[in-house]
Order: sequence, then structure tokens, then C-alpha cells
Amino acid sequence: MEFLTAVLAFAGLLSGIDIGVNSAPKTHLTQRALPNAPDGYTPSTVTCSASRPTVRSATTLSSNESSWLDTRRNKTLSAMRDFFGHVNITNFDAVEYLDRVSSNTSNLPNIGIAFSGGGYRALMNGAGAIKAFDSRTENSTNSGQLGGLLQSATYLAGLSGGGWLVGSIYMNNFSTVSSLQTPEEGGVWQFQNSIFEGPEGDSIQIVDSANYYKDIYDAVSGKEDAGYKTSITDYWGRALSYQLINASAGGIDYTWSSIALTDSFQQADMPMPVLVADGRYPDELLVSSNATVYEFNPWEFGTFDPTVYGFVPLQYLGSRFVAGSLPSNESCVRGFDNAGFVMGTSSSLFNQFLLQINSTSLPDFLKNAFTDILEEIGEDDEDIAVYAPNPFYLWANSTSPSADETELDLVDGGEDLQNIPLHPLIQPERHVDVIFAIDSSADTTYNWPNGTSLVATYERSQNTTGIANGTAFPVIPDQNTFVNEGLNTRPTFFGCDASNTTGTAPLIVYIPNFPYVAYSNVSTFDPRYPESERDSIILNGYNVATMGNGSRDSDWSACVGCAILSRSFERTNTEVPDLCTQCFQRYCWNGTTNTATPETYEPTTLYDNGGYGVLPTVLASVLAAAVTVSALL
Ligand SMILES: *[C@@H]1O[C@H](CO)[C@@H](O)[C@H](O)[C@H]1NC(C)=O
Ligand SMILES: *[C@@H]1O[C@H](CO)[C@@H](O)[C@H](O)[C@H]1NC(C)=O
Ligand SMILES: *[C@@H]1O[C@H](CO)[C@@H](O)[C@H](O)[C@H]1NC(C)=O
Ligand SMILES: *[C@@H]1O[C@H](CO)[C@@H](O)[C@H](O)[C@H]1NC(C)=O
Ligand SMILES: *[C@@H]1O[C@H](CO)[C@@H](O)[C@H](O)[C@H]1NC(C)=O
Ligand SMILES: *[C@@H]1O[C@H](CO)[C@@H](O)[C@H](O)[C@H]1NC(C)=O
Ligand SMILES: *[C@@H]1O[C@H](CO)[C@@H](O)[C@H](O)[C@H]1NC(C)=O
Ligand SMILES: *[C@@H]1O[C@H](CO)[C@@H](O)[C@H](O)[C@H]1NC(C)=O
Ligand SMILES: *[C@@H]1O[C@H](CO)[C@@H](O)[C@H](O)[C@H]1NC(C)=O
Ligand SMILES: *[C@@H]1O[C@H](CO)[C@@H](O)[C@H](O)[C@H]1NC(C)=O
Ligand SMILES: *[C@@H]1O[C@H](CO)[C@@H](O)[C@H](O)[C@H]1NC(C)=O
Ligand SMILES: *[C@@H]1O[C@H](CO)[C@@H](O)[C@H](O)[C@H]1NC(C)=O
Repeated sequence: MEFLTAVLAFAGLLSGIDIGVNSAPKTHLTQRALPNAPDGYTPSTVTCSASRPTVRSATTLSSNESSWLDTRRNKTLSAMRDFFGHVNITNFDAVEYLDRVSSNTSNLPNIGIAFSGGGYRALMNGAGAIKAFDSRTENSTNSGQLGGLLQSATYLAGLSGGGWLVGSIYMNNFSTVSSLQTPEEGGVWQFQNSIFEGPEGDSIQIVDSANYYKDIYDAVSGKEDAGYKTSITDYWGRALSYQLINASAGGIDYTWSSIALTDSFQQADMPMPVLVADGRYPDELLVSSNATVYEFNPWEFGTFDPTVYGFVPLQYLGSRFVAGSLPSNESCVRGFDNAGFVMGTSSSLFNQFLLQINSTSLPDFLKNAFTDILEEIGEDDEDIAVYAPNPFYLWANSTSPSADETELDLVDGGEDLQNIPLHPLIQPERHVDVIFAIDSSADTTYNWPNGTSLVATYERSQNTTGIANGTAFPVIPDQNTFVNEGLNTRPTFFGCDASNTTGTAPLIVYIPNFPYVAYSNVSTFDPRYPESERDSIILNGYNVATMGNGSRDSDWSACVGCAILSRSFERTNTEVPDLCTQCFQRYCWNGTTNTATPETYEPTTLYDNGGYGVLPTVLASVLAAAVTVSALL
């Protein structure tokens, strides 16, 4: 759907997009993922470690992830204790339960959170949810609030606009959304500034607008001159970085793999971030549902799909692997996995935004020069991210569509319609119990989600002898049912009855974008967001995740607690508390379908705050309205 929107947009509806960063004092954002690329944007040869890097088979998790999980799962226990300190399941002592079963870590809940694509809308709506889940957010650990869910999670997955959100947080030292918003604290997200003109001249990212273009141009030229094929995504990724990374020269030397080297990540003080992109077969323009889905985690790049079924150490992407190993005459290369390039890859659908350079006030010579460059590389099938050399060259010869290709082409992770990055989280090896799936997709006429992404993941999981390769997913009804039954107007649980899926599937807590206090259905291609609008959509996202701070259902936080514990209860043969039974009756999709074609879906804001505008507090919006729960569920 995002893809179709894109096609339409480029048929003439496109209005523009702005990206730019204006950063004020950078006081407490000074520590972050390491700027450890050897030569800025240009990949460079380095001395290989004693054991030369290889491609590994995807049969297990990496040893890096496994050992990190040992520490992380422990830390999530204390985070869950905190969470259930303010999330109260009536007549059930969740903290006592966790302590009782925790002698065996695998009894504990294992939580994933996934943020869909959808450009800035997805970034902002998702940011509201993260804020609600983050115990560092003011008031989020009050009774009935969801603060601490983020700290309790093992995995955090992002795709396209959701990947900008995850990437921006991790590249700025796991900063809070509040600090990314607030000028006094660094104010990284200056979405009112244009990507075309770049950040304001007094920010730490650049010197001035003309230099912004020169910097982008020079960076990509440097990579090309060093012998690496580039595409429009390289320019796009560089531009994105100026907006999302709070560092000089747009964080040019920040790598995705540096996340694994930071002390706080090694201490497992935060969830493991994963971004998703799709493989595009050679000469294929439309990406199909059986496209290979790749992930970028802090240690590795690769896929569990049966087509390629391999992973390569992320920091050595750009090295010339052949049939899974690095020939003795080849050097190790580092610096290819530039963080902006990784975020740009996951969101390559947007890279043509750059072609709107003409709408800027830049001097003509700059416009013309850049137009020429971008049009040339944007022609035909070049609207992709090029990973050359292909790390999986001559790997999985009989099943990999790209085994014979010296370059691997990747595109936006949502192009296979799986716009929520569930793929990394449904891998059986990861044993995730529950996924909070924040859907900011623009499926319907008015840019609201209608379940299309879940349908796509469900259908893919049905190909059990092929692409699903051991992944299982709950039954998901058709989109008409989503709209007719209102499953896209409030959180809905899928897969409550674990015995009804073939294979072990997580419980899906589907949290669709919905208007509580603001019309957060802004166009995927909306160019510019004044700070007040940005803050309204983030606030709306907070309400989406908390159901209006519990005003739509005062049991909502307890029901979230029940969803977290559900699979654990099964493993430990624990009787489900009464309140949880009620929650499941209320929130679990029970198999009912209604496939009649619905009327145009056009929800109105639940709580009237006069439209956009910055509300004094999160709670103000809620207190303003008295809405009965039963009418809405
Ligand atoms: C991942 O694990 C391997 C083998 O245990 C180790 O050599 C490597 O340094 C680790 N990578 C990172 C980024 O920690
Ligand atoms: C996890 O916690 C348990 C109990 O607190 C402790 O015995 C164990 O060593 C911890 N494991 C790790 C990897 O930290
Ligand atoms: C939890 O709720 C019960 C009744 O619903 C109440 O008696 C108890 O005090 C509450 N506990 C906390 C910690 O709020
Ligand atoms: C992808 O799936 C379609 C059917 O949905 C099939 O026609 C096509 O051959 C598949 N492509 C690959 C490369 O598996
Ligand atoms: C997944 O695919 C790989 C490679 O094709 C295969 O070896 C493995 O058995 C598959 N796993 C399952 C569970 O089907
Ligand atoms: C920008 O304007 C020039 C001159 O009108 C035109 O030749 C060029 O194609 C335009 N560039 C884009 C990207 O539309
Ligand atoms: C793939 O095929 C090539 C020859 O075409 C061979 O050299 C290579 O070893 C094969 N790769 C694997 C992993 O078997
Ligand atoms: C759901 O979204 C898809 C696009 O993703 C669209 O084709 C379909 O018409 C929508 N259906 C409903 C009922 O909104
Ligand atoms: C199932 O997946 C395989 C690739 O693993 C693909 O070739 C095939 O077309 C898929 N089947 C369907 C019905 O999509
Ligand atoms: C399932 O839910 C629908 C409402 O969505 C309700 O009308 C129906 O009675 C429920 N069916 C069962 C068997 O609980
Ligand atoms: C249970 O599984 C059946 C068969 O796949 C399916 O038709 C039904 O919708 C499922 N029910 C639920 C609640 O997921
Ligand atoms: C937190 O709660 C206090 C007390 O209700 C209130 O004064 C304050 O404005 C709230 N802060 C936010 C950010 O909502």
C-alpha cells in the first residue's frame, strides 16, 4: 500500500518532503553509538581479525545475540517487576508470579515491539507509543500507565519510517523521544526544516546550506571513487542522517554495527534494534510477497529465509565474500554499514523525494547539478539500495535468486506489503511471546491502517514448505473484516489461543493508528511538520498506545499486562486470572469475519481538543472527554 501510494504520488500528487536538523545545545546527547567508520562515508580496507569473517548459515542465532540475550533477559525481569508495580491485575500478584517462575529464564515473557513504515506519520505515531512505553517519560509510571514496557522488551524492530524512529533513538545513545523533541535537550527532530536546504546553519550538523549539498555530494562521490557502486539511496541516506543523527557532518562516520560496541548496549540496558529491508530480484520491479526479507541487527546482516539463509558480520559488509568466505587475497572492508545508508535502505521508497530539489531556494547551478546526478542514477531500476559486492555471492547457489549476482539490490522493507517488521520477531529461534505491533500504515483512502500488513505476514506464513521456513503466525481475517468489526479502531489481539496455530506463534497485540486527539493520518508524502503538529501527532500516538491514558478502558494497562504474561502462563500451567480472561474476551479476535465491502472508513477524533495544537499535558486530553468504554469496544 505504501508502494501504491508512492506510485500515485509520483504520478503528480507528490508535494514534497522536508528533512533537516536544527540542533541546539547538545548537552546530554553527547554520548552515543560510536562514530567508528575508518574514513567517513567511504568504505575502507582494514586488517582482518585473526579469524577472517565468513558468512554463516542461519540455523541458529549468532553467538553474539545468544550471549547478549543471557544478560538482556535477566534485565527485562527487573524491568517487568517495575512494570507490574504500577500495572495492577486485580487479584493477581504478577511480581510474585515472575519471581516464582524466574529460576528458569525461559518461563519469563519475551517481548518484541515493532514499528511499521509510513514516512513521518509512522515516525511520529510510533514515537508516541515509545514514549508511552518508556519508563523515563514523565508520568508514564503512574498507576495504569504503560511506562516500562520498552525497558521490558527484548527486541525493537523498525521498518522504513519506523526505522527512522528506531535508528534515531539508537544513534543518539538510546535517547528518549522527549529529548529528541525538546529544543533545550538537543531538539534533533526539526521536521519543519527542509531536506533540500538542510539543517540550519548554526546547528552542529553543518556549516551552511550550500555546504550541505556539497557534503552529501562529496560523501557519495568518495564511496564511488573508492570503487563502490552507489545509487540514489546513498544520497537519500546521507540526507536522512542530517535529520536523525545529532552529530557533525550529519553523523557521517556512524555505523549501524557500532551499536554493538557501545557500553550500554553490551550491558544489555536496552532492547536489541533490528531494521528490515526487502531483497529485489534482478530485473524485478514489483516486489512480491515471497521476496527475501533481510534484517540489520547490531552484529549481522542477512536473512532466515530459505532462499539465502545466511548472515554476514555487519561491520565487514563491503568485503568481497565469495561462496561464504573471504578469499585470502581479499582485504576486510569496514565502514560500508553507514547508519544513514542502513536507514535509507529500509526506506528507499522515499529516496525520490530528493528530486524535488527544484522547490528550494537554492541557486540554479546547484539545482541543475543535483538534478542531473539524481535523474541519472534514478533512471530505470536504479531506485534501489545497491549492496555491491554482494555478500552472498555464490552462496546458497541452488535457492538464492541473487547467488550469481555481484550486487545485491535491496528496497524499502514495506514493498512486500509486510509494512510492520514482524519478520525478525517471528523467527522460531527468537522465541518471542508477544509482539506489540504499532501500525501506522496508510492502507485506506484516508491514510488509516486496515490490517493489510498483518494479512500479508499471515499469508506468507502459510507457505510452510517454502518461504515461511518454520515461521508461524496467528490467523488474520481479511481487511473488510478489520474495518467492519472495528479491529483497526482499537487494539486487537490475534493468536490468543496458541493451540489454534500450526507451529509456535507469538501473540500479536495490534495497535493501529487512530485519531484520539489529533488527525494523525497525514499523508505519507507530507513534506513539512511544524513543531506543534509534530507534537500533536506524537501525543496522539501516546493516546493510541495507552487508549487515552486508560480513559477508553480503565483496564487497558492490566490487559497489556495479561498479553505480556499469556504465553508464560501456558508454559508454567498457571491458571489465567479472571481479569485476564475478561481482557481476552474483550480484545482477542474470536474468529468472526464480516467480509462485506465496508463504507469508506473515516474516523473522527475521539476526544475533541480543537484539532491540532499542543496540549499542556498528556492527561489534559483525556480529562476533557467522558466516553463510555462499552460504546467503543
Ligand atoms: C561476535 O562474536 C564473535 C565470536 O564469538 C566475536 O569474535 C565478535 O567479536 C563478536 N562481534 C561483536 C561485534 O561483538
Ligand atoms: C541472571 O540472574 C541470575 C539470578 O539473579 C544470576 O544467577 C545469573 O548469573 C544472571 N545471568 C546473567 C547472564 O547475568
Ligand atoms: C490492585 O487492585 C486491587 C483491587 O482491584 C487493590 O485492592 C489493590 O490495592 C491494587 N494494588 C495496587 C498496587 O494498586
Ligand atoms: C513468488 O511467488 C509467486 C506466487 O505468489 C510466484 O509466481 C513466483 O515465482 C515466486 N517467486 C520466487 C522467486 O519464488
Ligand atoms: C529453512 O531453510 C533452510 C535452508 O533452505 C533449511 O535448511 C531448513 O531446514 C529450513 N527450516 C525449516 C524449519 O523448514
Ligand atoms: C528542475 O528544473 C529544471 C529547469 O526547469 C529542469 O530541467 C529539471 O528537470 C528540474 N528538476 C527536477 C528534478 O524536476
Ligand atoms: C556455488 O557455485 C560455485 C560454482 O558456480 C562454487 O564455486 C561455489 O563453491 C558454490 N557455493 C557453495 C556455497 O557451494
Ligand atoms: C485495505 O487496504 C488496501 C491497501 O493496502 C486496499 O487495497 C483495500 O481496499 C483496503 N480495504 C479496506 C476495506 O479498507
Ligand atoms: C512459496 O515460497 C517459495 C519460495 O520459498 C516460492 O517459490 C513459491 O512461489 C511460494 N508459493 C506461493 C504459493 O507463494
Ligand atoms: C465474537 O465476537 C463478536 C463481536 O466481534 C460477537 O458478536 C460474537 O458473539 C463473538 N463470538 C463468540 C463465539 O464469542
Ligand atoms: C482458528 O483456526 C481456524 C483454522 O485455521 C481459523 O479458521 C480460525 O479463524 C482460527 N480462530 C482464531 C480465533 O484465530
Ligand atoms: C505529570 O503529572 C503531574 C501531576 O498530575 C502534572 O502536573 C504534569 O503536568 C504531568 N506531566 C506531563 C508531561 O503530563
